[in-house]
Amino acid sequence: MAAILEFDESTANSIANALGSNTVLLNDASQVAASMRATGDPLVIIGPSVDHTVAERVTAAAISTNPTAGVVWLRRRVDTPIVLEALRAGASDVIGDTDLPGLVAAANRVSDRAANYAATNGHEPKKSGAVVTSIYAPKGGCGKTSVATNLSAILSSEMHSRVCLMDLDLESGDVQLIMSLPVGRSVIDLQNLADTLDATALASVMVPHSSGTYVLAAPQRPEQATGVTPQLITRVVRVASQMFDHVVIDCPPYATEHVLAVLDVTDHLGLLCTPDAASVKNTAITLEVFSELNFTGSVDLIVNRAGERVGISGTDISEALDHPVICEIPHSVDMPFATNSGRLLSVSHPSHAISMAIRGYATYLNPASNAPQTAAIPEQQAVTRRRRLFGKRVATT
Ligand SMILES: Nc1ncnc2c1ncn2[C@@H]1O[C@H](COP(=O)(O)OP(=O)(O)O)[C@@H](O)[C@H]1O
Ligand SMILES: [Mg+2]
Repeated sequence: MAAILEFDESTANSIANALGSNTVLLNDASQVAASMRATGDPLVIIGPSVDHTVAERVTAAAISTNPTAGVVWLRRRVDTPIVLEALRAGASDVIGDTDLPGLVAAANRVSDRAANYAATNGHEPKKSGAVVTSIYAPKGGCGKTSVATNLSAILSSEMHSRVCLMDLDLESGDVQLIMSLPVGRSVIDLQNLADTLDATALASVMVPHSSGTYVLAAPQRPEQATGVTPQLITRVVRVASQMFDHVVIDCPPYATEHVLAVLDVTDHLGLLCTPDAASVKNTAITLEVFSELNFTGSVDLIVNRAGERVGISGTDISEALDHPVICEIPHSVDMPFATNSGRLLSVSHPSHAISMAIRGYATYLNPASNAPQTAAIPEQQAVTRRRRLFGKRVATT
């Protein structure tokens, strides 16, 4: 059962119909907490006609009534400021008001979380399967893709782990380009599967890199990203977790619904910060938001481009953020140079200081390196014709 706060009757009815189960329709914000106490239900939906200030107040009241409550905001517009505002208020999801399937999925996530919480007496259940590491920064250009690709290559080629690298930057992903992989298959090929996605289907769209990493590429064109739902992404991670030892996720530079969905199944959040004031400020907000989201994994603070002579050191960042820095990756033009010539630095120069730093993080994620294994992946299909971009081999269909 869910409490729905919405002032427009017909919108309230469509929300209730979409949820299908028992719902309580409320048009008075002050009744939400009482209704939650009466039903014991953890799910609260705040409809699009409820303004932000009231939504924030109701969210705070819902969480103080039941700390495991999940509050889902339905908004006419979903953009980064609104998502951040909702998350800071303690909401568990923000969904567009016409995205009723998205609403149902968000509601199911809240119910699953509440059921897990009850079943484990308040302790998160231990997950089996792969170690899931999401590489995130609240800003583009911090080195997320550089770290995610080199980390994956080290885990697979040097530590013999089975590794899946997922490009979650759905609108402008460039993992495929940076790893010089053939263009063609991507997550968009899975868009009609969601609940029925299995290992065979997932394997059929992954592209192998010479390091041994299997890549699930982002769509080729930004407009295709809308075909990829957060539910599909969660399912992909769950299926990949059963096939691989490590799932590495290269995130977009903002907390999209897809990022929030993978956070639920993430063990390590590799949070990148660069030594500049804007990045430190944005990282501080991210740490705050993720802690309000009750993220239970490990937040691994990584300083990239360390040593740049800009007056901020890794120690300064750690002190400013009151969070330990787990890895400092030095600044070097060799990183873009390697990328522009079509090689990963960790592959072309394994003893470079950048490669060593990323290897340190890989060792942290993989303390007891497993014996060599082969991923259960079917034969891959024909590689397509290639052209050159800035001297780099790029494949085209
Ligand atoms: N440690 C580093 N030193 C110098 N350049 C770097 C370093 N890490 C990343 N870069 C460069 O910064 C640019 C942005 O990196 P990228 O990984 O694409 O960032 P993001 O994925 O966060 O947008 C690329 O040109 C990359 O080669
Ligand atoms: Mg990137």
